[in-house]
Amino acid sequence: MSNIKKKLNSYIDEKNQIVCITCYDASFSKILDDLSIDIVLVGDSLGMVIKGETNTHNVTIEDILYHTSCVAKNKNNFILMADLPINSYKDPEIAYTNSKKLLDKKADIVKIEYKDNHAEIVKTLISKNIPVCAHIGLLPQYALSIQDIRIYGKDRDERDKLLQQAHSLEKLGANMILLECVNSELSKDITNSVKIPVIGIGSGEFCNGQVQVLYDLIGVSNNPPKFSKDFLKENGSIKKALKDFYNYVKSIKN
Ligand code: KIV
Repeated sequence: MSNIKKKLNSYIDEKNQIVCITCYDASFSKILDDLSIDIVLVGDSLGMVIKGETNTHNVTIEDILYHTSCVAKNKNNFILMADLPINSYKDPEIAYTNSKKLLDKKADIVKIEYKDNHAEIVKTLISKNIPVCAHIGLLPQYALSIQDIRIYGKDRDERDKLLQQAHSLEKLGANMILLECVNSELSKDITNSVKIPVIGIGSGEFCNGQVQVLYDLIGVSNNPPKFSKDFLKENGSIKKALKDFYNYVKSIKN
């Protein structure tokens, strides 16, 4: 078993909630490393919070490579996860080439927004020893209108589809699943029915961990989602705010 797989699975075995926060630069990466944050994600949310755009649609692999190399400068303990932005995984070969570039910048695992037609891509990456986190539920790269920004899995068809995707991903060998804006009862069922870690954002507390956008946690985002909470408001210090978020996630009991 690869080290990353062992490390990720140990969170489930030890009932240790995973704390994942996005990051885009070396200064914050030092803070997150010092705070023992488990996973640091170089997310394509940088399209909004760094580039000032309204969505993630223009983020390029070069953007993610650059920010991954900045974040990696202060990586000592955390798992470094890097997003595959839209257009960077058009087919298995392109996905592999770009994932390899991210691993060369010290990413430990890549994240892909998963649709059923991406199964071959996930299979290829896993077969070539690239650890994969599959992101399901709300997929910002494919969200074209405001109607796509909603909670997923409330009706039976969507619920069955998401459950089935989670099971297929486990079979394909994915190392982790990320649920975005998934109904919390469904998140619970998914988490309880797969053996790989499931982390959630806007998906309730029944996952194996929580992920948040750094700038939402410290009230710097212009348009934070409803489910995010500004932890800085009550703490007065960025480090204390992030530690408070860490303590909150670690205290979740499922
Ligand atoms: O890009 C990102 O920051 C993400 C999180 C919202 C999960 O994918």
